[in-house]
Amino acid sequence: MNPWKNPKRYWLDITTYCNAECPQCARSDYRYHAHINEVEPMHMDMDTVTNIDFTIVESVIICGTYGDPIMHPHIKEIVGFISSFDNIEKIHIDTNGSIRNTNWWKRFAVYKKLRVAFAIDGVNQEMHERYRVGTNLEKVKSNIKSFTEAGGKAEIKTIKFKHNEDYIEEIGNIFPDLQHNHVPTYHEIGLKENNLEMPTDVSRSYEVSGLKNKDCWWGDEKMVVINSHGRVLPCCYMNAYDQTINRLDGVGNINENTFDEIMDQPFWDFIKSWETNNPNHSCKNNCNKGL
Ligand SMILES: C[S@@+](CC[C@H](N)C(=O)[O-])C[C@H]1O[C@@H](n2cnc3c(N)ncnc32)[C@H](O)[C@@H]1O
Ligand code: SF4
Ligand code: SF4
Repeated sequence: MNPWKNPKRYWLDITTYCNAECPQCARSDYRYHAHINEVEPMHMDMDTVTNIDFTIVESVIICGTYGDPIMHPHIKEIVGFISSFDNIEKIHIDTNGSIRNTNWWKRFAVYKKLRVAFAIDGVNQEMHERYRVGTNLEKVKSNIKSFTEAGGKAEIKTIKFKHNEDYIEEIGNIFPDLQHNHVPTYHEIGLKENNLEMPTDVSRSYEVSGLKNKDCWWGDEKMVVINSHGRVLPCCYMNAYDQTINRLDGVGNINENTFDEIMDQPFWDFIKSWETNNPNHSCKNNCNKGL
């Protein structure tokens, strides 16, 4: 049974552009490409957005494998279009938040189904930019403040490393007067270290906690990726391969076929090779299938 056939959530990857250079991002992870130049520079166009059947899911995550959604020139139109579907309960965006100005963010608060996770990885610029290279903490803070004061729902997301692990609570209290959630998250083992040390407590990092050895997190969540080309993929790992010059073979495109037609294509049998002792390369290398 193909778990993506009846998806609960779309994970939209609408752009491969980013203003930052976080050292462990897929942008600099050479498991997927030899150089960032091999990633296709691309924004999803509005025709592709409107070709997606939003009536079949409950929620949408707009995130990215190589890019930041706020870099998309029509992000507001995209969020507005998705919001117009009554069945969509939530739209979630992940961003580094160091893009666009406070006026833009104030107006972005108008979308009531929207929740934005902003990355703050330090209590000061020096600590923050150890990971969030190329971003400005004061700009992120002003944007969060403007968005939240205008009624936007914000979350602060902190990736835990050795250099910030003693400041997680302080980061969560950066805005004592604003309503927001704080979500500490864990560094994914297996990514290039790039002079970044792991937190002392690695027990909840993905690999150690067993997430990487368990079934298939994306399938379990019934979450399906649609990337800037409109290509439909089972997870961010396969999407990382597919957005390079070495695209995967046989991936369906919502500009050419309906979602149901795509789900019946042989590509999804290729994924099921994980049930054999010769699993496909991505399920084997990213989720230890067949090992
Ligand atoms: C490639 S980013 C794209 C979205 C956005 N640019 C951002 O950074 O939030 C996709 C997700 O990876 C997460 N991420 C980035 N670096 C990470 C790391 N070293 N360990 C775990 N998660 C990471 C981000 O927090 C984000 O939720
Ligand atoms: S902000 Fe997000 S997409 Fe951009 S480099 Fe950092 S992790 Fe990658
Ligand atoms: S690589 Fe395979 S097992 Fe891992 S999340 Fe993707 S589809 Fe699932």
